[in-house]
Amino acid sequence: MKKELIEGEDFYLSPEGYRIFTEKYLLDRGYCCVSGCKHCPYGYSKLIGKIKKNTKQVMTFQEEILQGIPTQLPPVAVYDATINHAPKRKEILTNEEKKLALRNALRYFEPQQHQTLIPEFKEELEKYGRIYMYRFRPQYRMYARDINEYPGKSLQAKAIQMMIQNNLDYAVAQHPHELITYGGNGAVFSNWAQYLLTMKYLAEMTDEQTLVMYSGHPMGLFPSHKNAPRVVVTNGMMIPNYSKPDDWEKFNALGVTQYGQMTAGSYMYIGPQGIVHGTTITVLNGFRKIGKEPKGNLFVTSGLGGMSGAQPKAGTIAGCITVCAEVNPKITKIRHEQGWIHEIIEDLDQLVNRVKIAQQNNEVVSIAYLGNIVDVWEKFDKENLHIDLGSDQTSLHNPWAGGYYPVGISFEEANEMMANQPELFKEKVQETLRRHAAAINKHTAKGTYFFDYGNAFLLEASRAGADVMNPNPMLGREFKYPSYVQDIMGPMCFDYGFGPFRWVCASNNPEDLQKTDEIACSVLEEMIKTSPAEIQQQMKDNIQWIRGAQENKLVVGSQARILYADAEGRMNIAKAFNDAINKGKIGPVVLGRDHHDVSGTDSPYRETSNIYDGSRFTADMAIHNVIGDSFRGATWVSIHNGGGVGWGEVINGGFGMLLDGTLEAEQRLKSMLFWDVNNGISRRSWARNEGAVFAIKRAMEAEPNLKVTLPNFVDDKLLD
Ligand SMILES: NC(=O)c1ccc[n+]([C@@H]2O[C@H](COP(=O)([O-])OP(=O)(O)OC[C@H]3O[C@@H](n4cnc5c(N)ncnc54)[C@H](O)[C@@H]3O)[C@@H](O)[C@H]2O)c1
Repeated sequence: MKKELIEGEDFYLSPEGYRIFTEKYLLDRGYCCVSGCKHCPYGYSKLIGKIKKNTKQVMTFQEEILQGIPTQLPPVAVYDATINHAPKRKEILTNEEKKLALRNALRYFEPQQHQTLIPEFKEELEKYGRIYMYRFRPQYRMYARDINEYPGKSLQAKAIQMMIQNNLDYAVAQHPHELITYGGNGAVFSNWAQYLLTMKYLAEMTDEQTLVMYSGHPMGLFPSHKNAPRVVVTNGMMIPNYSKPDDWEKFNALGVTQYGQMTAGSYMYIGPQGIVHGTTITVLNGFRKIGKEPKGNLFVTSGLGGMSGAQPKAGTIAGCITVCAEVNPKITKIRHEQGWIHEIIEDLDQLVNRVKIAQQNNEVVSIAYLGNIVDVWEKFDKENLHIDLGSDQTSLHNPWAGGYYPVGISFEEANEMMANQPELFKEKVQETLRRHAAAINKHTAKGTYFFDYGNAFLLEASRAGADVMNPNPMLGREFKYPSYVQDIMGPMCFDYGFGPFRWVCASNNPEDLQKTDEIACSVLEEMIKTSPAEIQQQMKDNIQWIRGAQENKLVVGSQARILYADAEGRMNIAKAFNDAINKGKIGPVVLGRDHHDVSGTDSPYRETSNIYDGSRFTADMAIHNVIGDSFRGATWVSIHNGGGVGWGEVINGGFGMLLDGTLEAEQRLKSMLFWDVNNGISRRSWARNEGAVFAIKRAMEAEPNLKVTLPNFVDDKLLD
């Protein structure tokens, strides 16, 4: 454990990257561990005695949940500067609209409280651009407890309470006080009143009711039936003409919609494990695409930020040499301390020598170059150092405000220029992009395989006039280089139904997670014996991942695991879990997935970028998916506008399903998981994707009730 504090007296990082909060930090906030430290991964249990002595306990955790929005106003909140807060949002409302935002916020409170709350909410709106209702933030610790510790009449609703709390855990959430889980704007709720009310509804509801969530706002409980979802979530659903980025700013500030990202607003985030696993699969398949083993071969990329930071860790798991450039020294240091990068090098000559040695010795090593990525591409070209695989994960979806740093200027100077000379900064960024692309082009001419990593690199480079356009453009192949979904994830995984299946042990007991890992591994090992050749590789990769999953120590927050599986794999694993629950070997398990999957997401430049029949700008698949999941047994479903690539650019959905060991759960998992994957395969097959045609035919053989319209292929010569 590293003793060095990284944010004042806030927390320090364990080698696995857990934030371990200092005792002072806990006590200052009146944290109380009395309600559930049995399985606490952070070591709070050792502090219980001390914390108990210093903590005034007024209500139990359960009583606080059941109270909902308190009738007595809690004390005014003190803004906690030690917490990572959301940036001030754009000032966009007119004075009349600001009144409307206040009127909207006050709907949650008794009229006698309005006079007190109006100046406070007004100040929040002026200062932060949103009304978060900080005063109502609960004082109990926010984390995924054992499911049995939640109040309620419905086990399913308790599971959802647990998942919501995990998304707001300080160790998991990016801006926990603003209810943002990740991506800067991925909201679970828009304000604390919504959180309190939702938790109360969940604690009161029965299995004959459904809670309806409108973009963070709990509309209420409606009568339904026990096979209906307990919660139906929509986030950011807009009339299409009102779905531009500024529309989000305005309607979010008014308190009537929110950006749910993917797994933030659907209560299914599992920390960094998801991105590390997805990136590992991409790197492994990237090497396969070029017919090389990762060992001793070189992957060059950049960015050590929120998501991009997973690249060196994934490169190491895949087994290659990774060079990842990052301009920000603070972030580079954090990734080094976390163990996700092995070495930091600041000198280009030294970097070249180090990489040559690693290549000669077939090393598995991850090296951070503290500096600009363009310098790396240019230097390696000059030195004739061969790059096998290349990509980029700077934040080019946000090029003018710190997502991408110009070459030849120090990090500090660039920040200065960004604030004081924005036009000059823009020029420098575009100049850098042209150099960046030119250097990549030199390498690709010598055999490097380059792919766009869903960060708008090619798009922004093209806007800057860089040489990245395809000389023979086709629909969906406008650029010289493919996106990672077009060449790798789409044809190798999604078309065959392989996607990011995940589960959470609702006991929050690490021993349960270990048992589920073993169960999943033995299911896959059994399946691979008879799997067709087309999917053997995917099966092998995931068996290897799950075998090493405990070692990689990627669990942060709830006891969760991810792996890529197809419909059959997901169903078999889920059934084996349900059997184990039934026999009392493990506690209940929540199933889910990332929305970045086979069927869940329509996103023309990412998840559905390998759809070439023109339908990649439609969103029927994602909408059908959520409707289909909802009547086939999901415990909760969600559908979002935005996520990853931006508001208005993508429609994505997900589900959660509680397995409780019953026969009903078994029926639900079979029915829903089959649809949840095969819906997307059928669409990909209709788009003439060959892997998907293979996969859907196979699914039809296994399930006689499945009858899918298959495409005929035309001889293109007839069309010329
Ligand atoms: N394809 C995917 O699966 C996927 C997943 C996650 C994120 N993304 C995309 O990847 C991008 C990165 O996401 P993130 O969460 O890591 O963002 P981030 O902003 O946290 O990290 C990007 C990092 O790049 C560094 N950087 C910028 N310009 C640089 C330069 N010229 N040289 C070296 N370093 C530079 C920044 O300092 C920053 O630390 C985003 O655009 C995101 O949408 C794609």
